[in-house]
Formats: sequence, C-alpha cells, structure tokens
Amino acid sequence: MKPTPFEKRIKRRVTARKQTFFASTTPGLKQILAAEFAALPLETEHFTMAEGGVVFTGPMKSCYLANLYLGTASRITMEVAEFKAENFRTLEKKLAQVEWELFLKKRSHIHVEATTHHSRLYHTRAIEERAVQIIQDHLDMAAPESPGAPASYKILIRVRDDRFFISLDTSGDLLHKRGLTSAVGMAPLRSTLARSILIRTGFSGREPLMDPMCGSGSFLVEGAMMASQIPPGFYRQFAFEHFPCFSQAQWNHLKKTAEKNFRNVETPLIFGFDQAGNLIAGLEQTLSDHGFSGLVQVDKQDFFDLGPKDFTDQAGVVVLNPPYGKRLGEKGETAEFYKRIGDKLARNFQGWRVGILLPEPELARELPFAVELHPLFHGGLEIHVATGKIH
Ligand SMILES: C[S@@+](CC[C@H](N)C(=O)[O-])C[C@H]1O[C@@H](n2cnc3c(N)ncnc32)[C@H](O)[C@@H]1O
Repeated sequence: MKPTPFEKRIKRRVTARKQTFFASTTPGLKQILAAEFAALPLETEHFTMAEGGVVFTGPMKSCYLANLYLGTASRITMEVAEFKAENFRTLEKKLAQVEWELFLKKRSHIHVEATTHHSRLYHTRAIEERAVQIIQDHLDMAAPESPGAPASYKILIRVRDDRFFISLDTSGDLLHKRGLTSAVGMAPLRSTLARSILIRTGFSGREPLMDPMCGSGSFLVEGAMMASQIPPGFYRQFAFEHFPCFSQAQWNHLKKTAEKNFRNVETPLIFGFDQAGNLIAGLEQTLSDHGFSGLVQVDKQDFFDLGPKDFTDQAGVVVLNPPYGKRLGEKGETAEFYKRIGDKLARNFQGWRVGILLPEPELARELPFAVELHPLFHGGLEIHVATGKIH
C-alpha cells in the first residue's frame, strides 16, 4: 500500500532521523546502567552519562532495544522540544508550535508532569494544566483519525533557569515492572535493584544462585531471567507501542531475535528458601506460571539450618535481603542478626560470592569477611549492598 502523506511525514520527521533518548535510573545504579547500555545489541550509538542516567541518540530501534534489554533503567524518555519561556504567553505559543501529531494519537489520555527549578514560571500545576489543554487542542486539529482504543501518554516537562525541556515517556509503566505476576511478600525488592545486585556480584547465569531469605522471590525471578537469557522487558508492554511511528514489524523482529537466544535450563541452578511457608507456596506458583520450575527450586527452610551441600556441590552466588529495621527492634538486635548471618556464611559457604543488603553501612563490620559497599535506594531509604567473596 502506498504511504499516506502523513506516514511520509512521520518517516521524514521521526523514523528516518536520529532521536535523543534518556534512560533514567535510581541513585546508585548509574554506573551499572551505563555498563548494561554498553552491552546492548546496538550498532553505532553514542551515549553519555548524565545526572540520573544515560543520554543516547539513535533511531527508534534504539529506544525499543533499550526498553527491552535494560534491566536497571527506570524509564526511557524521548526528547520532543526545548525552548525558553519566561511567561505563560510564550510557553503557550512554543507548546502550540510542537508537531504533537508526530508523537501522539488523537483522542488519547495525556498526563503531564512538570518540575521547575530557578525559573520565572514555577507553578507546576498551572504548567501541567496548560500543556494538557494545548496538546489536546493541537491533536484535535492536526492529528489524523486513529482507530482503536484511546492511548495513554506521559509528557515530562523539566524547567531549569527558564528553559523548558519537553520529553515523552516511551516506557509506560516503570521498567521495574517486568510483566510477570508475583506473590507479594514482606518488603519486596524492585526487580531493577535485584538485577543491579546480581550484576554487582558478577552472577553469570551459569552458576548456582541462592537466596536463603527469598520472600516473594525478586532475586530468584530476576536470576532466572538472566540464566534463561530472557530480556527484562520481554513479557511486558510499552508506551511506544502506541506512538504513531511505531513499527509492529520491526518490534516483532526484535522480539523474535531475542526469543531465539533464550536458554531453556531444566536442571536446578537457582535455589530459594524462606522460613515463611505461605510465601513459598505463592512463589512456586509464580515460577511455574513462567516456566521456571525446572531451573528454580524453592523450599521452606530456616537459613540457620541450611548447608549448600543440601542442594549443590558447586560454589556460586548467595544473595540476601534480611528483614531489618523496626521489625527487628533495636539497632543492637539488627547487628546481632547480621553477625549470625555472617558467621553462618563463613562457616558453610566458603568460596561463594555474596551480595547482602545492609540498612546501615556499619553493619559490614559484623561480617567476618572483606566486602565492598555500594550505596543504593530502596523504598526511599538509602541502604547499602555489600559484595565480596566468603573465605
Ligand atoms: C525483607 S524479606 C526478603 C524480601 C525478598 N528479597 C523479596 O524481594 O521479596 C526477608 C525475608 O526473610 C525471611 N526470613 C527471616 N529470617 C529467616 C530465616 N532465619 N530463615 C529463612 N528465612 C528468613 C522472612 O520470612 C522474609 O520473607
């Protein structure tokens, strides 16, 4: 079929051009995200580290790949416009000049989030309301009719020193949502954090992985995806699938290529234990729903009664997110608990590498082996992960 004039415009203005994208992440994960980015199956893309993430340029395919493969990014946004505005009249005029129909479909739900710093226009709510109105009016006039259910888009407006940076969210739900159902346990770890910790321990996906306090199993599921070479975003949907420029054929091709690379591991390599039997039952269901029952074994077990010989004869990686804080009472009690964990690891897990979450960095002193500390944020709190080798 011959392309319509609008399709030709999309090609000329969006798909045939390089765009600028930003992969954001949470504090503490930027270096890991950059390393993940460098390993992406992209051709000749440029990327630079920026505050809060990585900036990169490339065709829309780069955006698809970044969403599909980056396991520690929170979301990927695409730059749409940048201009200076010191009053609402200028802001309205500049916003109306953006060719919104190239990025958004008619009759869609538009959500705008603004942040301002050091600018004459500082009232974020007023900026957001005007932006939604102008974009809707623009689409009503300039966008072609589009069949199907209305799409939802998020526009981010960052204002710094009167300069407006307008970008479009390409991810939709934040990327820690992998599209897998999971049982909800106590203080579950975001998959992006779990992935960063697994990467920090050097987990290869080909060696045993064990979480003796696995809760709802964030480490196990993330480890299973790594061992099976399933890209983090494989099972979910993305906002870019509703962009006017979206190419279903290209996306199908990228997913097919990813699928050819899956590894079907049927021998147990990943082991999870928890003393709470109800969590284990829910977790078994999640693992079986996603075809991980052969690869991941879970059992109700107290960590302090556990020895590696019970499940493997090869040293690997042990990851631990122990309960801490108020649940364990006073600080002294937490220190005592970490000392018991450290002693147990040193006694029974010689030669294993470890990644252990600490609510306070001083708790590393309770561990009887050398560790490196890396700060990160979990549930809005700064915590640390200690990595090292048990000897
Ligand atoms: C903070 S949660 C772990 C969260 C988990 N990483 C997740 O993402 O869902 C701590 C878990 O440790 C378990 N636990 C505490 N003491 C334990 C012990 N001695 N042996 C086994 N599990 C224990 C608790 O039942 C709880 O599920």
